[in-house]
Parts: sequence; structure tokens; C-alpha cells
Amino acid sequence: MVATPTATLAPPAISARGLRKSYGDKTVLDGIDLDIPQGSVFALLGPNGAGKTTTVEILSTLVSADGGTARIAGHDLAREPAGVRSAIGVTGQFAAVDGLLTAEENLLLMADLRHLPRREGRRRAAALLERFELTEVAGKPVTAFSGGMRRKLDLAMTLVGDPRIIFLDEPTTGLDPRSRRTLWGIIRGLVADQGVTVFLTTQYLEEADHLADRIAVLDRGGIVAEGTADELKRLIPGGHIRLRFPDPDQLRAAVRHFGAVAADPEELTLRVPGDGSIPTLRAVLDVLDGASIHAESLTVHTPDLDDVFLTLTGRTGSPKETSR
Ligand SMILES: Nc1ncnc2c1ncn2[C@@H]1O[C@H](COP(=O)(O)OP(=O)(O)OP(=O)(O)O)[C@@H](O)[C@H]1O
Ligand SMILES: [Mg+2]
Repeated sequence: MVATPTATLAPPAISARGLRKSYGDKTVLDGIDLDIPQGSVFALLGPNGAGKTTTVEILSTLVSADGGTARIAGHDLAREPAGVRSAIGVTGQFAAVDGLLTAEENLLLMADLRHLPRREGRRRAAALLERFELTEVAGKPVTAFSGGMRRKLDLAMTLVGDPRIIFLDEPTTGLDPRSRRTLWGIIRGLVADQGVTVFLTTQYLEEADHLADRIAVLDRGGIVAEGTADELKRLIPGGHIRLRFPDPDQLRAAVRHFGAVAADPEELTLRVPGDGSIPTLRAVLDVLDGASIHAESLTVHTPDLDDVFLTLTGRTGSPKETSR
């Protein structure tokens, strides 16, 4: 998605400076900065316990920060929390639907909480049920819903108030691939059609790759990397061409030409660093041909967000998260 000129000129939907939060002697956020343009999708990634939910809770006025400042939709987080709340919608990490009510009743309850007139509340509830393909089950109690249906209803409830900024804390965790794609479509639609700003947290790098204009990786209290998916992928090496040989002799011959750094004698494979472009591939094949080395197979590995995530947050030694 490309930011429109107006989106770049408009004040950011969310900006934060030096946000800090500790629980007891555990520092969760150690001064984080954020700038999220209107009408964009921002994904906050991080391992369990990194502080993603805490960040969402702070920015959505549910808990207060120990330090730092933030503006949400032009409202100061500390001084104008009511203004912030009127502009945002929050879908928490754990579904907030009431199981005893029906899907429609849950939506109407949200409309009441938002002080919408009855008729308008019913109109929006019906429209949302339709959009989320829940019309047929609108009258069923939510206890009878699958996890994916609850997730969809949860997001629909967030949208009742027509928020300009939506916080989604792990919106698709536990969903099957099809339901996940349905939700992705809905989220993209909100941004493209209505110019909504989305702040999401996720464990799924594929989700961030698909949805987010910008991605930040949160780890050990700070943002350790930020950029588009492509920018983050460029941060780390990891692209390579993997050659497999039929026997140890061929592998040894290849090692003489490419070096032994990434040879695996048991698997009979060799990793040659490279970006997987046609010229790189051709160069590798030329070397093999020139030396009459026979390779059984060749696979190209381009770095993905998984590599980025593991490289940036990779734990060596004892894990830090022992206090959870
Ligand atoms: N209310 C609380 N009281 C004490 N500690 C808390 C509280 N809320 C969060 N924490 C701690 O703060 C840290 C960050 O938690 P948070 O829920 O923000 O992480 P997260 O990135 O959302 O993790 P996950 O991926 O598991 O959802 C954790 O160590 C957690 O134990
Ligand atoms: Mg969380």
C-alpha cells in the first residue's frame, strides 16, 4: 500500500515518545517511540512477553504509562483520554464477546455502550453481521460459535462505534488459514475504503508481511528494528543456494570451489551464500559445470521475515522470560 500525499501531510494517527512501563522490577517498555501515519497498517511483532499487549493497553488508555508522551488522533493520551477513547476501537488478545448473548445482542450492546440511537444501532449491527458473514447465525448464542466466528464477531463489535483507529491484539491467533484470510480481507478493506488506521500485534510474520505498511520488532523493552517488510528482510543476510550431492566425493569437489563454511557431510549439502537472482544461479551452475561436479538438487532460500525475527530476537543462553 502506498501512502497518499494527504496521508503523509496529515498529522500521524499515533505518535509516541519515550513510552515506559514497568511491572514491579521488570521493565517492560524502556522508552519506545512510534509514528504511525493515518490510513496505514502498523504491525508490532515480538516474542511472548515482549510487551505488545502492554503497548496496546497504554495507547488505548487501559493502563497508564510510567513515562513518555503520546498523541492518538490528535488527543494527548494523558490529558484527553476521553478524546482518545472516542476515536479508537480495541479488539483484545482474548475475545470479549459475551457467550450467553447472541451475536446480534452483543453488537446491540456495543451500540448502546456507544450511545447510538436504537435505530442506528440496529442498522449498523445488521450491516456488520452481513459483512462478516454472520447473518445466518445472528440469533444464535455465542457459546455455540467456533473460535473463528467469535474472532469475527469480536472485530465486528469493535467496528460498531466507527473508530478511526483500531487496535487489534493478535487478531487471527488460533484461526484456520481460510478464516485468517477472510479477516485480512476485512482489515485491508477498512484501510482502503474508509482510511482507518490499524495498529496490530501478531506472532505471524506472514500476517505482518501481508497486511502491514510498516513493521516494528519489539524485544527486551525496545524497538530493535522498524521498516517495511522488504526493508527488514534486507537487514539480514540469510539468502543462500542449497546444493545437494549424490555422494561425498562430489561434495568434497564442490567444497574445493565454494569453500567449506556451510557444508553438511551427513546431509551431503552445501550452502552457497547468494540472493537467488538469475546471475547468481548461473554463476553457481557455471562453476559446477566447469569442474564437472554433479549436483542432485538445487534450492534457493531467500530471507523471509522469520529469518529477520529469529535473527533480531534470537535467544542464546538462558531465556530472559523466566519471571512470567
Ligand atoms: N498486569 C500485569 N502485572 C504484572 N506483570 C504484567 C502485567 N501485564 C503484563 N505483565 C508482564 O509484562 C510483560 C509483557 O507482557 P505483555 O502481555 O505486554 O506481552 P506480549 O508481548 O503481549 O506477550 P504475548 O505474545 O504472550 O501476548 C510480561 O513479562 C508480563 O508478565
Ligand atoms: Mg499479548
